[in-house]
Parts: sequence; C-alpha cells; structure tokens
Amino acid sequence: MRTKLVAGNWKMHGNFGANLTLLTRIKEAATGFAPACAVCVPFPYLAQAQSVLAGSLVAWGAQDVSEHAQGAYTGEVSAAMLVEFACRYVLVGHSERRALFGESDAVVAAKFAAALKAGLTPILCVGETLAEREAGITGAVVTRQLDAVIANLGVAALQRAVLAYEPVWAIGTGRTASPQQAQEVHALIRARVAGCAANVAQNVQILYGGSVKASNAQELFAMPDIDGGLIGGASLVAEDFLAICRAA
Ligand code: PGA
Repeated sequence: MRTKLVAGNWKMHGNFGANLTLLTRIKEAATGFAPACAVCVPFPYLAQAQSVLAGSLVAWGAQDVSEHAQGAYTGEVSAAMLVEFACRYVLVGHSERRALFGESDAVVAAKFAAALKAGLTPILCVGETLAEREAGITGAVVTRQLDAVIANLGVAALQRAVLAYEPVWAIGTGRTASPQQAQEVHALIRARVAGCAANVAQNVQILYGGSVKASNAQELFAMPDIDGGLIGGASLVAEDFLAICRAA
C-alpha cells in the first residue's frame, strides 16, 4: 500500500522571519499527521529548516542539485552539501528549471543520479506545456522525460525516488488539472514504469502538482494513482499547506 506525501516547493520565496513562523506552525501541527510531509526550501534556508524541523515529522529538502560531485562550478550546490544539511528530498527537473534554465532531459537524469548516489530521495518532475497538451502529445512528452532517467539508471532507481506530474499550464496559474485529467497521466506514468518492472510501479509515489489548494486537494488525492501533491503557492501559507496535508 502506497502512503501519501505532500511536499511544499517554496521556490524563490521566504526570509528568516516568515520562514520561522511557517516552519514552526507546520512542525507543531504535523504531529498528528498520517501522510508524510516535507518542505523544499531555497538553499540559504536549509540550515534554518534543519534547526527548526530536526526531530519532527516534517522532512526538508532542496529545489535543485548539481549533477557534478565537486569542482569549478561557480554557483552550484552538490548533493553531498545537501546531505550535510540532512536533506531527505531534492526536486529535479522542475519545469521552471527546464524552461528558464535550459535543463535538458540528460541534465535532469544526471542530477537525479547525483542525488541518488548521495543518498537523497529525488523528486523527479515531469509535465507537458499547454501547447504540447493541445497538440495531443502529453503522453509522449511525459514518457520521454521519464525514460531519460530510466535509460540512464535503470528502473530500479525509481524505488528510491518520488515522481511528480506537474502540467506546466497548471503551475501557478490557478488552473488545476481536473482529477480525471491528472489521473489519466498518472496512470500512464505508472503503466510506463510497470512495463519495466511491475513491483516498482506499484510502490512508486506519484505526486500531482499545479495549483493544488485546500479546496481541490481532496478530490485529486482520492484518485487511485495520485499519491499526494507537490505544492507551490499554497505551501507558503501555513494553514493552506496544513489543510492540503490533512486532505491527504
Ligand atoms: P503551484 O506550483 O502549486 O504554485 O502551482 C507547483 C509547483 O511548481 O511545484
């Protein structure tokens, strides 16, 4: 039986004061939760997340990681560095990284590999743009993004990872995929993994992301192949994020 996971993606938001209030509230409320819950914060706030959340039920992580182990890569952050802050998770291949920072499928696969090698749990994000959906190639796009990782590392690598389906047209737009639209792609992703290894497909958590709110979380999470959410905007407001965790 797969458990649910709700992960917050703060993106480039936050400051020490606001973070302290948010993290403390989540930590206090999370004591009674069944679903796992995590926050992916900007690099400079990892130490703060660690100090507030250590010993609680809330995990923390980063939003990106270098594909390189170390060296002359100005501005990059390695997986080993994230481990030093006791991160459990790291997002890889978020659509904003792909679209705004030119991350190719190959780079995303290399980042995924670096995260796994360091003992982190990568959350691999996949999803189509509106143009791709309208062109009827959603399945092909998502499959290509997933296959890049499977081809590089083998399907067994997904046993130590989380997948997240995030339609680009639903991110930060207020336009959520309907539960049926999301379920359709989640089922397709799981079937693709099952084509390589049925047991891996059965166990891998597939999160939905894209304008998840307290008001739509429950119907999304009720879908058979949706195992929780990756939450952007609503993860910045403690009560909204907690309501989504409760829905899971
Ligand atoms: P959103 O972002 O919830 O603000 O749409 C989700 C994400 O980008 O992970």
